[in-house]
Amino acid sequence: MSHVKIQVFIGNIIYWHGSKKSEIIVLQNGFVTVQGKSIVSIGTEFNIQCMASDFKLNIDADVEINRLTDSQILIPGLIDAHVHAPQYPNAGLGYDKALLEWLDCYTYKLESQYKDLDFARAVFDRIVRKTLDCGTTTACYFASLFSDASLILADSCINHGQRAFVGKVSMTKSPLADYVETEEECVANVIKFVNDIISRNEDLVKPIITPRFALSLNMNEMAELGRIAANSDLHIQTHVSENREEVELVRDIFNLSYAEVYDETSLLTKKTILAHGIYLTDDELKLISNRGSSIAHCPESNTCLKSGLCDVKRLHSFGVNVALGSDVSGGPLPSIIRAMRSALDVSVHLSFQNENYEPLTYREAFYLGTLGGAKALGIDDRVGSFEVGKEFDALIVDMATGSSSCDYLVPCDPLELLQKFIYLGDDRNVLKVYVSGKCVK
Ligand code: GUN
Ligand code: ZN
Repeated sequence: MSHVKIQVFIGNIIYWHGSKKSEIIVLQNGFVTVQGKSIVSIGTEFNIQCMASDFKLNIDADVEINRLTDSQILIPGLIDAHVHAPQYPNAGLGYDKALLEWLDCYTYKLESQYKDLDFARAVFDRIVRKTLDCGTTTACYFASLFSDASLILADSCINHGQRAFVGKVSMTKSPLADYVETEEECVANVIKFVNDIISRNEDLVKPIITPRFALSLNMNEMAELGRIAANSDLHIQTHVSENREEVELVRDIFNLSYAEVYDETSLLTKKTILAHGIYLTDDELKLISNRGSSIAHCPESNTCLKSGLCDVKRLHSFGVNVALGSDVSGGPLPSIIRAMRSALDVSVHLSFQNENYEPLTYREAFYLGTLGGAKALGIDDRVGSFEVGKEFDALIVDMATGSSSCDYLVPCDPLELLQKFIYLGDDRNVLKVYVSGKCVK
């Protein structure tokens, strides 16, 4: 009788406990066993004979053992809850402007070029490869206004084996006449796009309704998108309260707070991910918390576009779940390693303004980049931590690879390795990447 091969990972394992938010688990010399896509056992004191008899295995034929070294840790895959794939060619450019001018001067111009599907294919292939290399096992993408290009991004995720939510951007207002849809196109195109993704029948890649932001659409269009999401129980992503000037414009146009605009149009749901959320009022945070929507904190982008300092602790104090986003190209690097570090920087900077403020710890940053992201995307029953029955989305991180910026000079315990990874790691320290049990790096 033939079996699906069992992969065994033995070494230092770190993750946040899936249900007890306050508990980080460190298994020193622990093990995880994976059959097909899923974790079948986890613990300490691995015993191959017991496992072989539990799973009726022939040890030589059916078991692949991966023994981590002392400089390595096994952690859940990182989750980028907010990234704009078409903006990747602009990474690192245009930070002389703040949000609204940046969109008009740099971003829409680049995004309007994705009618060229060869260009789309080349860029999307690179960003999916790059995010995977940086350890992003799940990405929540803003794709293109154009459906064909957006489908190419979905196919790129499928080809490279990345778990993803892919959103065709909905936008009827922009300064470029050839980079908008009419209201009718906006609705028809998104319905077709959702059906096209669903008909691919791929477990890893799902559609997400993507109204760009309140300034790109009118109430009626947003309400239509809210209805489409409700009818098919889809995820929703958009931007909220990122920049002071933007927030004032939203108030002037709609005569409502930013969060109220989305709530009035049924866009605030348990499956909604709102990027930024820097300037939300207490009332808006109560509303978002009541609706069960999450915030994707994008600290690199908030700094580069001079948007402001987002206070994650305050969001948490209202019971709002927080994830991390690279927001490329608002942020320059498609890396959640960098986002964890920047979240810590921003939190320390906030503490300079208030001496009673306890900044985030590296453990909390790790939560935001793993389980926080999984919760935001409603996939914490499947990924984000290591539990029996969950799919195996994981990284082997090595802090002693000769080529990285970390010199590994004295032995570190597992949590010290995690700290080093967060504070000075990069894609060179991400040795292996697994998505749904499959090695993709
Ligand atoms: N708000 C509307 N569009 C965008 C975008 O592309 N990036 C960021 N950071 N904010 C936005
Ligand atoms: Zn964004």
